Amino acid sequence: MKIFSSVNDVADVQKLVSQAISLKKKPFVDEQLGKHKTLGLIFLNPSLRTRLSTQKAAMNLGMQVIVMNLDKEGWALETRDGVIMNGSTVEHIREAAGVMGQYCDIIGFRSFPSLVNRDEDYAETIFNKFVKFSGVPVVSLESATRHPLQSLADLITIEELKKTAKPRVVLTWAPHVKPLPQAVANSFAEWMNRADYDFVITHPQGYDLAPEFVGDAIVTNNQDEALAGADFVYVKNWSSYNDYGKVLTDGEGWAITNEKLKLTNNAGVMHCLPVRRGLELSHEVLDGPNSLVLNQANNRVWAAQAVLKNMLEGLS
Ligand code: CP
Repeated sequence: MKIFSSVNDVADVQKLVSQAISLKKKPFVDEQLGKHKTLGLIFLNPSLRTRLSTQKAAMNLGMQVIVMNLDKEGWALETRDGVIMNGSTVEHIREAAGVMGQYCDIIGFRSFPSLVNRDEDYAETIFNKFVKFSGVPVVSLESATRHPLQSLADLITIEELKKTAKPRVVLTWAPHVKPLPQAVANSFAEWMNRADYDFVITHPQGYDLAPEFVGDAIVTNNQDEALAGADFVYVKNWSSYNDYGKVLTDGEGWAITNEKLKLTNNAGVMHCLPVRRGLELSHEVLDGPNSLVLNQANNRVWAAQAVLKNMLEGLS
């Protein structure tokens, strides 16, 4: 594996999930594999889980890890091509990525969308430039349109806990105070469409995801209808794709509460975190027995470790 940016980079998704579950049982079985190999984790945006879980995964594989918050600690980055850099930017992504590729065997890179220019965001302009100019294998730590390590961890969580072969999995939009990327929702949908699940997406009008991510999912604006009989409920806010980056509603009535959970099949409740307590999800749900948020966070380690293992095995 040379790149991990979406489910399309995985030849056999079920095999990757099985590898991750095996690594969870025996975390140090490959501790020689990463000896004398360096992982760089480069962030243009904040992170708690992605940073720590990927670092832990690399350490389990015997790798050395370099972490840099490039937006705060690096030179101001220019990402446009062909510009005369006589303004505030100091270093071009071409050189910055190329230099990092000299120091690292594998790089993880996080770059959120602008939520202003949809075409550029959905072309993954910055992520793809980083991949091209770094010259080494790259793992997405969340890009403009996808968060594949999160989605893999989410799939592992469902596979571990499902009680039927084909569970009903519902992705529901939830309220938020500011515009958020569609990346987590897009990515979750993309991975759920690869699994043989009964997959439903529910959101208020105007929050349709891009068709290439919706795929075969059933889509409804009626949240109660979607929640009926759900085995897993994935809660996430995203801003509008069609009215790009806009918040269209305060989302009153869309938060997941214990009252809403009564509609479900005693569903496991999922969220990638960080979560706005009392706004997206009620305190009682987050603190209650249905919450799977820590299971998901735990599985971030094994998702990252399975991906890094595959990349290390592919290094020449
Ligand atoms: N879920 C997730 O990616 O969390 P962080 O943004 O804290 O890494």
